Amino acid sequence: MSLQKAAITGIGTYVPDDKLTNADLEKMVDTNDEWIVSRTGIKERRILPKGLGLSYMGEHAVKQLLEKTNTDPLDIDLIICATITGDYRFPDTANQIAMKVGANNAYGFELGAACSGFLYALQTGSKFIESGTHKKVIVIGGDVMSSIINYEDRSTCVIFGDGLGAVLLEPSPDEDGIHNAIMKADGSGVDFLFMKAGGSKNPIDAELLVAKEHLVFQNGGPVFKRAVQGMSSTVKDVLALNGLTRDDINWVVPHQANIRIIQTVASMLDFPMERVMVNIEKFGNTTAGTLPLALNDYESKLKKGDKVILTAFGGGFTWGSLYLTWAYDS
Ligand code: ACO
Repeated sequence: MSLQKAAITGIGTYVPDDKLTNADLEKMVDTNDEWIVSRTGIKERRILPKGLGLSYMGEHAVKQLLEKTNTDPLDIDLIICATITGDYRFPDTANQIAMKVGANNAYGFELGAACSGFLYALQTGSKFIESGTHKKVIVIGGDVMSSIINYEDRSTCVIFGDGLGAVLLEPSPDEDGIHNAIMKADGSGVDFLFMKAGGSKNPIDAELLVAKEHLVFQNGGPVFKRAVQGMSSTVKDVLALNGLTRDDINWVVPHQANIRIIQTVASMLDFPMERVMVNIEKFGNTTAGTLPLALNDYESKLKKGDKVILTAFGGGFTWGSLYLTWAYDS
């Protein structure tokens, strides 16, 4: 007997109004629009005003999601929030969002995994539905990357932005929904992309603050290579697992880290860019936010039954690909 599938039944998103353009960055660090666009594909990013935090974006996105799907917040069982930039180190931001939207019967938790966070959370949320114990699960992916970026480091500050998306998972009435996923991790990647200080290993002190070691450090070259390899290999593995070829797939939804990574993955899969979701030019890399923000931008083009592969790579290293068939017409 096959398990009850979990289906995405709606999307809600929030991006801040304030834009940080390439022209703005030219005034802050030694960079230029031509370098940023040609090396990353990014034209602008959104920046959340200080003092609001991730739960502010989560509240707005989830309220939009509840309205779009005509869902009573009291019917929500569980909220999983993928992020590396929660409001506080503790307590948990998922529960702050539950409180703000009136999901008073829900419990929730945060999930790390950096840029693969939404994918990990989607896979996790689907299991709660498949087991039959939960009927309405909200999966959130988002980050306030501006809170952890060093705006004196030109190699990272041009890439990242703020944004968040949320999806509702419900039991599928038919065979459409989340089919399966292949998730991977390699902890030896830690030194290439991480925040050196601020965790229990190196608690913040004045010296670390002055050295800006509480902010994102990335050695971009090796991360680029591993991202291309990790995303393309797990897409191939997911295709094989489901007995599909690239021609069967309507859409690939890649993590939006760098347009050159996306193009290289598409080319390695021999997959046409017309069927690859891309919105990196508007928002940059919002870490756990990129996949739901891309799905939202393409929602009107998605049709019930469309075969979709989501793929991501992030700090950790973490990566993977997930196969679903879209469950509704917009
Ligand atoms: N403007 C102008 N020049 C720059 C800039 C900039 N913003 N940034 C770097 N440069 C310079 C470098 O100093 C270097 O100059 P040099 O040759 O004189 O030394 C030159 O440009 C090339 O630098 P590279 O680092 O080789 O540039 P690259 O083409 O690799 O692009 C980038 C850097 C954009 C960071 C790329 O490596 C990348 O996208 N990496 C992967 C990012 C990613 O996928 N991260 C994972 C997800 S994020 C997460 O999980 C939180």
